Amino acid sequence: NKIGVIFDLDGVIVDTAKYHYLAWNNLANALGFEFTEAHNELLKGVSRVRSLEILLEIGNVQLSEEKKQKILVSKNEEYLSYIKKMNANEILPGAEKLLNTLDGLGVKYVLGSASKNAELILNQVDLYHRFYGVVDGNAVSKAKPDPEVFLIGAKKLNLPPKNCIVFEDAIAGVEAANIANMTSVGIGDRETLKQAHFNFNSLTEIPEDFFRKFIV
Ligand code: G6P
Ligand code: MG
Repeated sequence: NKIGVIFDLDGVIVDTAKYHYLAWNNLANALGFEFTEAHNELLKGVSRVRSLEILLEIGNVQLSEEKKQKILVSKNEEYLSYIKKMNANEILPGAEKLLNTLDGLGVKYVLGSASKNAELILNQVDLYHRFYGVVDGNAVSKAKPDPEVFLIGAKKLNLPPKNCIVFEDAIAGVEAANIANMTSVGIGDRETLKQAHFNFNSLTEIPEDFFRKFIV
């Protein structure tokens, strides 16, 4: 019985969540309202367009379609200015070791991210070549918690969803994995991600033999 792994990117492999937060926070401040870290949790794993909608709901701000399009472009420009300075030092602790473990077990892994910048980010940190496949925001039409991104990932792995293990830091992502009938592993705050089947504060806490119970 074969297993495969699907990794979320932002907040699991790399700490880009802080750059998203910086850019959204600057935008909220420019629009004249407070945007807290708790608010930011709601944007994690969520597509760019949907993130803006949620942010505007939080601020109770209404904007024209035209203005929203402009904001989406400038938010991404600011975000990209941070991304372009990234290097392999920004790979989150435990990530490379985990990939090494999977390589050693012969377990394939793909990326399952809502980000349209996923390939760029993976290249910045020199991890792109290690993934068996990449499913990103350009490949999906429905944002997490819709399971589409992970179901496409399972297809790439050529495995049924129940044989896939998803690593996620976002509430929406854990939900998507659960709806897809996959095993969800929440990385981050246990209380926030209580819907996950397994929880770890960071990838460094995953025991060496974690995958043994799935390989039968
Ligand atoms: C990830 C992040 C979200 C982000 C989304 C889209 O899922 O967790 O916070 O909004 O990707 O990212 P993008 O790079 O396309 O703006
Ligand atoms: Mg994430």
